[in-house]
Amino acid sequence: MSLPHSGGFTTRAVHTGRGFAGTTGAVMPPVFLTATFASGNPDGFDYTRSGNPNFRLLEQAVASLEGARHATAFASGVSAITAVVSTLRSGDRIVAEQNLYGCTYRLFERVFGKFGLDVTYIDLAEPANWDEIRRRRPRLVWLESPTNPLLKVLDLAGLSAVAREVGATTVVDNTFASPYLQQPLALGATLSLAATTKYLNGHSDCLGGVVATNDPAWHEQMVFAQKALGLQPGPFDAWLTTRGMRTLALRMERHCTSALVLAAWLETRRGVRHVRYPFLPSHPQYDLARRQMRAGSGIVTFELEASVEATLAFCRRLRCFTLAESLGGVESLVCHPPSMTHASVPPDVRRRVGIADGLVRLSVGIEDVDDLGADLDAALSEVLG
Ligand SMILES: Cc1ncc(COP(=O)(O)O)c(C=O)c1O
Repeated sequence: MSLPHSGGFTTRAVHTGRGFAGTTGAVMPPVFLTATFASGNPDGFDYTRSGNPNFRLLEQAVASLEGARHATAFASGVSAITAVVSTLRSGDRIVAEQNLYGCTYRLFERVFGKFGLDVTYIDLAEPANWDEIRRRRPRLVWLESPTNPLLKVLDLAGLSAVAREVGATTVVDNTFASPYLQQPLALGATLSLAATTKYLNGHSDCLGGVVATNDPAWHEQMVFAQKALGLQPGPFDAWLTTRGMRTLALRMERHCTSALVLAAWLETRRGVRHVRYPFLPSHPQYDLARRQMRAGSGIVTFELEASVEATLAFCRRLRCFTLAESLGGVESLVCHPPSMTHASVPPDVRRRVGIADGLVRLSVGIEDVDDLGADLDAALSEVLG
């Protein structure tokens, strides 16, 4: 049984993405580990690069949760970004938020830059800078909100309206919020993109990406990119992601509650310079975050009054938080952006956009929050005294 796209978020998360059980009565779908399909089958599959039951189920589930007519699944978040940018031509422009995920920046600059893509990076949290969109008339306006790692919150409705004035397509990387907390299409964006690797899957056991849209022409282009560029996910990864998504709402609630507790505590802790969390009143876009998001998500970023070496020593001393790239899983992780996720961004660019040497990013998992707090406290005391 698969419910239609009605019902509450959690009901849809549990009931969509099921099917293809045949006559077995299996409650969960099988994994279709097949490269190809017999010609003329009633479901219309031909070759797994251009479609497989497991990614069709994943795409239905993501579309339902993003409030979209269509979604297309990819092998990773970077594959999803590649799919969108592959629709452009040489000389086309993008206006992008200046604090983007490091590998998005690297893809724009070091891969698509060679083919004549022209990207301008602007602080889009500042409405005075939005005129640059009107002036440059780009094909795409590329947004991330909250941003990685500074957790800037961008006004998705306001920016989508400005993009529409000049005929630009707004793309929102919704990875840090997930559709449970934020619905970019309802706010006016044309494309909502996510690395399912993070919250949607939630278990850190595979990579994946999706692009959701209500626009049939964009959907067609995404399906074309999936097969023409070979960006499709593997069937088992699609199955794992669909399984993980069933508990998205429950996980997000725990991530958000614990992250807020830890962020508020860190703000009072000696040796911590700034804490950034969208639902802390000290956040520069706190009011906007409250309007645009259901809760603040599970990422907390803060700056230690410490050198690069002492900051890394702090990260290594933690027991509940593993020092690792990535975020959004049930387990807590810690990351030092200047030497990890944003190492591919040149140091001068990094500092200009506020990625300081003592910056630490926590991905707050679903463990008991008291254990997480005690772990942070012990590591801070040991390293900073
Ligand atoms: C905001 C954001 N977008 C995209 C990606 C890329 O996802 P993937 O690692 O699955 O390629 C990441 C990865 O960390 C991310 O944080």
